[in-house]
Amino acid sequence: MKVKATTKVYAIIGHPVSHSLSPVMHNAAFESLSLDCVYVAFDIQPRDLEPAARAIRAFGISGVNVTIPYKESILFFLDEVSQEAALTGAVNTIKNEEGKLVGYNTDVAGFLRAIEEDLGVNPKGISLVLIGAGGAARAVLSGMCMKGATRIYIANRTLDKAKKLASEFKKAFKDVFIEGISLYDKNGLEEALSKSTLLVNSTSAGMKGTASPQIPLELLPKDAVIYDLIYTPRETELVKRAKQLGYRAAGGLNMLLYQGAESFEIWTGKRAPIEVMREVIEKELSGTTQ
Ligand SMILES: NC(=O)c1ccc[n+]([C@@H]2O[C@H](COP(=O)([O-])OP(=O)(O)OC[C@H]3O[C@@H](n4cnc5c(N)ncnc54)[C@H](OP(=O)(O)O)[C@@H]3O)[C@@H](O)[C@H]2O)c1
Repeated sequence: MKVKATTKVYAIIGHPVSHSLSPVMHNAAFESLSLDCVYVAFDIQPRDLEPAARAIRAFGISGVNVTIPYKESILFFLDEVSQEAALTGAVNTIKNEEGKLVGYNTDVAGFLRAIEEDLGVNPKGISLVLIGAGGAARAVLSGMCMKGATRIYIANRTLDKAKKLASEFKKAFKDVFIEGISLYDKNGLEEALSKSTLLVNSTSAGMKGTASPQIPLELLPKDAVIYDLIYTPRETELVKRAKQLGYRAAGGLNMLLYQGAESFEIWTGKRAPIEVMREVIEKELSGTTQ
């Protein structure tokens, strides 16, 4: 790839960012469509978020992905946010429209597409248990509420965070039953599991060497499915255990891929070359996991 004076620049900002697969995924996509674009990573210190956001305009950076820990704080520096980003309270994609910074949350669409393709889940009318109450949980909640889920139990290690998140979303979705419970409330969790056909892990527990949340999966109905947002390792302890018990289960690789594809399409207006993107991230992960 030849970087020229005309080359459009895209970037990811976060702290840390060295683990991010977005640069390889997007550069492969740009190359495969012969687009004069390049994607780089910037590790931004927390004190530098404001100047970094201003630099997007100053340097004419065409588009930016935002990762941990800035998905929520970046909102203050944007000119406009999409409906799903406002609802989620987090932005993972910025498009620079001639100096106007517009924020999107493509984790929402990425998650919905992944659960549909990997597990055949249609959110309409379903009950689910969502483990975790962080940034990723917000994207899952937005997607499930917008697509008509009827009952959502948020089970989190810190009960207060689960309750706050539940009450925030209940205000926006009055018809959806949303309850925050403690991950360690045995009775509450048992009841939630027995009433749900989808379990989603949106915590970071289960990543590379850490233990997955200990959930009595056998209490889920037999036709329930399990989705773990974690993609390193490709198959978490939770997904392995679910499969051993006879449930269909999937890890978060396709969510990563589809959120990236959605960002690409927002930026370029072109259909993302999904298979090219999948191939490079699979290759990267097979070299870096375990
Ligand atoms: N596949 C994808 O495309 C995709 C997209 C986004 C995120 N993710 C993954 O989702 C995970 C969470 O990301 P995030 O942005 O939501 O992080 P976050 O905002 O920091 O939230 C972390 C969540 O994990 C919980 N947690 C952490 N360690 C735990 C443990 N040992 N036991 C139980 N709960 C624990 C936290 O509980 P407390 O509230 O008690 O601290 C909190 O609910 C990460 O692994 C990330 O890679 C994947």
